[in-house]
Amino acid sequence: MFVSSAASLTPDYAMLARQVASLFEGERDLTANAAQFAAFVHDNVADLNWVGFYFLRAPRQTGMQELLLGPFQGRVACYRIPIGRGVCGTAIAEARTMLVPDVHAFDGHIACDSASNAEIVIPLRSGDKLLGVFDIDSPTLNRFSDTDQRGLEALVAIFVAATDFQ
Ligand code: SME
Repeated sequence: MFVSSAASLTPDYAMLARQVASLFEGERDLTANAAQFAAFVHDNVADLNWVGFYFLRAPRQTGMQELLLGPFQGRVACYRIPIGRGVCGTAIAEARTMLVPDVHAFDGHIACDSASNAEIVIPLRSGDKLLGVFDIDSPTLNRFSDTDQRGLEALVAIFVAATDFQ
């Protein structure tokens, strides 16, 4: 477990935003773009152990919305997360980015990969509609700064705008 020197881990988010916009040119498919986006962030942001999506779905049996695992990079993870549970479920319930410097201090954190120590979860929004979350885990305590939050939120917004969710 490391304590980060945050500045040295901060990529050039403006450059990443340009690259990710050009990555999606000509393609709007959800699975394809989500898989590419998870791989892109995993490759271009240092010191991450899990990067991926949970999409809001309502299974026919219950009709109750929950988060269902989507494309990701990292170790096998849990399939379904109830709204309001864990960092991901809280981000959806409160419709805001959750920046968690130490997941062990977050009541209700769901440990999918024991290597994770810090986490940031960004809701996917299209207008007023919530579509799911993008979840990023790091083995480094306090890994994510406000600059990372703003930069990652901008990348996620580009992904959402470039993708059809139907
Ligand atoms: N830690 C998350 C669960 C998803 S995994 O990190 C991939 C949470 O507490 O919601």
